[in-house]
Amino acid sequence: MTFENLQVNIQDRIATVYIDRPKKLNALNRATIEELHEAFKALRDDNEAAVIILTGTGEKAFVAGADISEFADYSVEQGKDLAAKGQELVFDYIANFPKPVIAAVNGFALGGGLELAMSAHFRIASDNAKLGLPETSLGVIPGYGGTQRLPQLVGKGRAMEMIMTAGMIDAETAKNYGLVNHVTNIEELIPLAEKLAGKILNNSMQAISVAIEAVNDNYKDGVNGFETEIENFGKSFGTDDFKEGTQAFLNKQKANFK
Ligand code: COA
Repeated sequence: MTFENLQVNIQDRIATVYIDRPKKLNALNRATIEELHEAFKALRDDNEAAVIILTGTGEKAFVAGADISEFADYSVEQGKDLAAKGQELVFDYIANFPKPVIAAVNGFALGGGLELAMSAHFRIASDNAKLGLPETSLGVIPGYGGTQRLPQLVGKGRAMEMIMTAGMIDAETAKNYGLVNHVTNIEELIPLAEKLAGKILNNSMQAISVAIEAVNDNYKDGVNGFETEIENFGKSFGTDDFKEGTQAFLNKQKANFK
């Protein structure tokens, strides 16, 4: 896979997607949004890729937001379209991705950058990371799911404060808020993401895929996550992975999932 604004490496069933516009602090322009969609679409069908790590090139920024230079003269309709297309192509697509997506936040994660990290299934951060939703300082609001996903992750009061003040929080505060799961130094960030990916890879990817769906259904209007859980729990009993996992346990062996 070759892209202008991304780098994608696949090794040992782990795909690492780098957002690669370091001179613009990896800001998300339209081309990068489209490339992210293409990359994830390809990874969805790629049997070599089981877990995805999403990060930014360099030591300064994960993503410093949507590319402000591109939307500064947009109309109301264009603004609405920007948010709708972005949510569909990238942010909802990643949140509902059937393979685990870990965001490794390696510096600034602002605006669309924090929204991208929040679309991943969980986040880790380097100790130099700064996270925030600065949109109200630009006269706009988060448009890539930030008003919805931030309260889900940190609670309404903290989300309201972050959105209203447009301020940044550091990595330790983000960990205390539950926004990132682990904090490490920048050199250890990708190794830690790979270590977590390795633990995930020991398990049934089929089961993980339907677990992602069940967890996400808690947050969808008109969908009952408990019902999805019952359905997906039942479905699991019909899989080779279930036979492998239960037989291995009963035989005191390590499961070897396909
Ligand atoms: N959109 C477009 N370009 C951006 C960008 C963004 N969101 N964030 C950074 N850049 C560009 C800068 O314009 C600059 O480009 P230039 O060298 O061609 O002038 C380059 O990236 C480096 O950024 P700079 O501002 O010089 O770095 P800094 O260390 O002084 O400041 C930040 C870092 C993150 C504090 C600052 O870049 C910033 O506030 N960015 C915007 C954050 C934001 O509001 N995001 C939400 C957008 S909805």
